[in-house]
Amino acid sequence: MPVGGVVAKPTFSIGDDGQAFWETLFLMEKAGDGASPETNDWIYTAIMPDGSLMGRTLGENSDGMAFCAACHMGGGMDTDDLLFMAPEYRVQD
Ligand code: HEC
Repeated sequence: MPVGGVVAKPTFSIGDDGQAFWETLFLMEKAGDGASPETNDWIYTAIMPDGSLMGRTLGENSDGMAFCAACHMGGGMDTDDLLFMAPEYRVQD
């Protein structure tokens, strides 16, 4: 991912009434080399459905965001810590 690149993952659930409602918005932003060595220079942000900030790497509640990188860096794959949806769930042409 080039520096400045952002990947956003909105999430939702389905309530007992069958209606969808928003859940957490997950963001990954690629920072410059050395900006955040512990997270492989990814800035992780999580925003709650009410718009409040759960946390942000190097910002508010940065320690609370460490679990993001722990999982994303744990794949051991050569994908720059991007994990991607399983192919069957991706938009098809
Ligand atoms: C337990 C493992 C785990 C944790 C913890 C985790 N993620 Fe992920 N994340 C995944 C997986 C697996 C995918 C790909 C599948 C999907 O989108 O559900 C993903 C996808 C994403 C994506 C879309 C880009 C991609 O890699 O496919 C973003 C953005 C993201 N996560 C941000 C975050 C943030 C921010 C946090 C912390 C608040 C976080 N993740 C915590 C496993 C995790």
